[in-house]
Amino acid sequence: MEKYIVNGGKPLRGEVVISGAKNAAVAILPATVLAGDVCVLENVPDISDIHYEIEMLKSIGASVERLGRTRLRIDTSTVNSAVIPHELGVKMRASYYFLGSLLSRFGEGNVPMPGGCDLGARPIDQHLKAFNALGASDELDYAMICVKAEHLRGEHIFFDTVSVGATINAMLAASMAEGTTILENVAKEPHVVDVANFLNTMGADVRGAGTDVIKIRGTRNMHGCTYTIVPDQIEAGTFMVAAAATKGDIWIRNVEPKHLESITSKLRVVGATVTESDDSVHVVGADRYTSTNIKTMPHPGFPTDLQPVMGALLCTAEGTSIITEGIWDSRFKYCDELIKMGASIQVNGRVAVFEGVEKLRPAPVKATDLRAGAALVIAALMAEGQSEIAEIQHVERGYVDIVKKIRALGGDITKVEIPEDALRKAY
Ligand code: EPZ
Repeated sequence: MEKYIVNGGKPLRGEVVISGAKNAAVAILPATVLAGDVCVLENVPDISDIHYEIEMLKSIGASVERLGRTRLRIDTSTVNSAVIPHELGVKMRASYYFLGSLLSRFGEGNVPMPGGCDLGARPIDQHLKAFNALGASDELDYAMICVKAEHLRGEHIFFDTVSVGATINAMLAASMAEGTTILENVAKEPHVVDVANFLNTMGADVRGAGTDVIKIRGTRNMHGCTYTIVPDQIEAGTFMVAAAATKGDIWIRNVEPKHLESITSKLRVVGATVTESDDSVHVVGADRYTSTNIKTMPHPGFPTDLQPVMGALLCTAEGTSIITEGIWDSRFKYCDELIKMGASIQVNGRVAVFEGVEKLRPAPVKATDLRAGAALVIAALMAEGQSEIAEIQHVERGYVDIVKKIRALGGDITKVEIPEDALRKAY
C-alpha cells in the first residue's frame, strides 16, 4: 500500500507547469473511435485513468502507440468490437464515453456500469435520454449497458439537468447521426468545449459548445487529425489554492486564465493576490485569510471539483465560511479527515460550515476520492509537522506527477510503499 508522507509548514514557491485536462482527455480518447483513422493526441495527461482507457481502446481492436510521455498515436481503423470488457470499464467513470462513440460509428455500444469517485448517486438517465431520442434502445444486461440503433437520426433534446457527461455523450452520438441535433440546457465546462473542438477537427460539425445550446449536423465523413488537449483547469486551480494555503508564491504556467475566473475571484476575496497573464497565473499567499461562502455550480460557477481544496484553505480562514455543494450529494467526506487535523467543520447534507481555527495539526488521514485527496495534500502542507495520507491511488488517478511537482516547489512530500505485512502488525 502506498502513502504520502508530508512534512508541512513550508510555503510552496516557484513555478509549475499544468498538464492536459483529465476530464477532456478521458472523453477525447473514446472519441477517437469516430475517426476510424489515425489521431495523434498531444498534451495527454499521464495518469491512471488514461492508462485504463488505452487498455480499453486496445481491447476493442485499436492500436495505441506512445510517441512520448504526453503524445499518443491512436489508430481506430482496426476497431472490431463494440464491447468494453467489464473488468476494464468499471475502473473509472468516463468509460461511458465509449457508449456514445461506439454507438455513433457502429450503431452499438456495450459498456459496464461505470465506476469512478463515490460522490453519492451518479445516474446516467440523461445519457440514455439522449441516445433514445436519437433512435437507440438501451438495455441493462448483467451490469453491462447495451445501446443499439439501426439508424441514428438528429433530434431536439432538452436535458432535465445540466450534465457534463450527458452533453459529451450526446455530442459523440449525434456527430455521425443523419440530420441535425439540437442540445439544450447543456454543460458549458471548458472540457465540453475541448471535446467539441476535437470532434470538429475530426470533421464533425458541432457549433455552440460553451453556450446553453449546441447544434450538431451529422456527417459520416470523419477522419484522423492531430489535436492538443486543453490545460487542466482543476489541476491549475489546485495549485493556485496550494500557493495561497501555504502562504507561498507560485507561477502556474500553461493555463487558460479565463477558465480560472471563479477560483481567481474567490482567492482574491479571501485575501490572496492573483495576477493573470497570457497563459499563466501568479498567486501570492497572505498571512491570514478571511472567511467566505461558496456554492458550487455548473460552469461558469464555482466548480465542484475545486470545492474540497478550497475547504482545506477555509479551515484556517478567520470567521465562519459556508460551502454549499450544488452538484453532488456526498462530497464532504474529506471533512471528517480535516477534523482529525484540528479543523472545526459541521456538515449537514450538502452544506458544510467551517469555523476558522488558528492552525491545522498533522495527522494520519485517508483520501476518500480524487479531489478529497488533493484537499488533504494541501491540508498536510499547511500543518506544521508530519502527516500521512493513505488511499493515494485516488489522487494519482487525476494529478500528473503531483509529488514531483510539489517537491519542485519546495514542498516536503514523499511517496512511500508500506508493505502489507507491516500494516498487519501495526493494526
Ligand atoms: C464530470 O462528471 C466530471 N467527471 C466530474 O469530475 C465533475 O465533478 C462533474 O462532471 C461536474 O462538473 C468527468 O468529467 C470524468 P455530471 P459527470 O453528469 O459527467 C446529475 C473529478 O473529480 N446527473 O455533470 O459524471 C448528477 O447526479 C470528477 O474530476 C443526472 O441526474 O457529472 C450530478 O448531480 C468527479 N443524470 C449532476 O447531474 C445524468 O444522466 C452533474 O453530473 C447525469 C448526471
